[in-house]
Order: sequence, then C-alpha cells, then structure tokens
Amino acid sequence: MILLIVIFTMNSCIIMMIGKQNLQKAIDSAKDGFNFEVRWHPFFLNPDAPKEGINKTDFYKQKFGASQYEAMMSRMTKIFNSLGFEYDTSGLTGSTLDSHRLITFSASQGYDKQNALVEELFLNYFCQGKYIGDRKVLLDAAEKVGIEGASELLHDPTKGIEEVNEELEKYSSRINGVPHFVINEKYKISGGQPPDVFLRAFQAAADDGSRQ
Ligand SMILES: *[C@@H]1O[C@H](CO)[C@@H](O)[C@H](O)[C@H]1NC(C)=O
Repeated sequence: MILLIVIFTMNSCIIMMIGKQNLQKAIDSAKDGFNFEVRWHPFFLNPDAPKEGINKTDFYKQKFGASQYEAMMSRMTKIFNSLGFEYDTSGLTGSTLDSHRLITFSASQGYDKQNALVEELFLNYFCQGKYIGDRKVLLDAAEKVGIEGASELLHDPTKGIEEVNEELEKYSSRINGVPHFVINEKYKISGGQPPDVFLRAFQAAADDGSRQ
C-alpha cells in the first residue's frame, strides 16, 4: 500500500527540521509495510525576508530577546543532539524563495530526489551555518543529490516563480502554517511531533484503505 505524505515546508523553520527527522524515523520503522511517497510544497513564514540575508544569531537575539535566545539555544541543542545532529545558528537567514524554486523544480526529477534535496538544505541551514538563499549553497546541494538544470533555473530569477506561486495557491493558501504534514489527504500532523504520532497516522490511513 502506498502512503502519500505531503509536507508544507518553511525551509527556515526549525520545527520543520525536527518534524522531518521524526517522520523519517517513522518511515524507516514502517517501510516493510508500506511504500511511501513524500512530496514537498512551499510555504512562506516571512515572504518579505531579505534576499541578501541577515545575521541569523543577531536576528534570533532580537526576535526572542537575549535570555530567551539562550534558553532556545540550549533546548534546540539538546533536541538536535538527540536526533544525531549539531545545532548551529551561525551564518545568515533571509529569503527562502530560491530554495523553494529549486525544491519545486526538483519534483519533476523524482520525489526521492526532492526529499534528498530538502534533507541536504536543512542540514546546510540548521547544522552547517550555510545560507540557503546563497546560490552556491543551492547549487552544491543540487549537485550532491543529482538534480539537473539547477544552474539554469537559479541563474534566471524569473524561472520557476510561476510554479512556486501555483503551488502556493493550490495547496498552501488553505493552511495557516500548521499542519505541516498531511497523510493520504486526510491525516494532518503539525510541527515537531514524535515518530509514534506519524506511525499511528500511517496505521489509520492503512485502515481506511483496507475498508474501501
Ligand atoms: C553575526 O554577528 C555576530 C555578533 O553578534 C558575529 O560574531 C558573527 O560573526 C556574525 N555572523 C555573520 C555570518 O556575519
């Protein structure tokens, strides 16, 4: 049985990264029973974020205040460590538009490649201090996971915009940031839920399927 998982991604949202890792754990432990297809659709947390990027640490400190920032850092560091990663807030934050252009474009080369690209960009942004608005970072990620035509796409700032806007209109206009994950068009899961929550939703979707 195939389970279709649609994800609305805000590429610079840390809860997305955590949710993705938990989803992957759930998929890994359920993959004998199901075939999965994971698709990513764009969602913008902050459409006006500057393209050239701004200092991420300073941005968080301003947004949360210095003491909240410290608390968030230690919480995120723990969560990331438990997932096997190092949390890193160095580098820049800013517009995610180009990353959405690339992710949307990559779907035509296979959803497995699209998924690998998202994983790479999350690692770049959350663990390696790389800015996903930087063309070089995007091109390196595309090359690493074997996506062709990325250079032509990113070189022309008008390319792929229509596709992103179509997706935004078709899918993301009906959600308000949450839920981020939808399984078989029905089971909605928000934010950084643990793997068990995904596993229960897989089972519920499978039970629906067998009743039909
Ligand atoms: C961001 O600002 C901090 C000081 O608040 C500085 O140490 C760091 O190097 C800056 N990072 C970048 C990428 O400019």
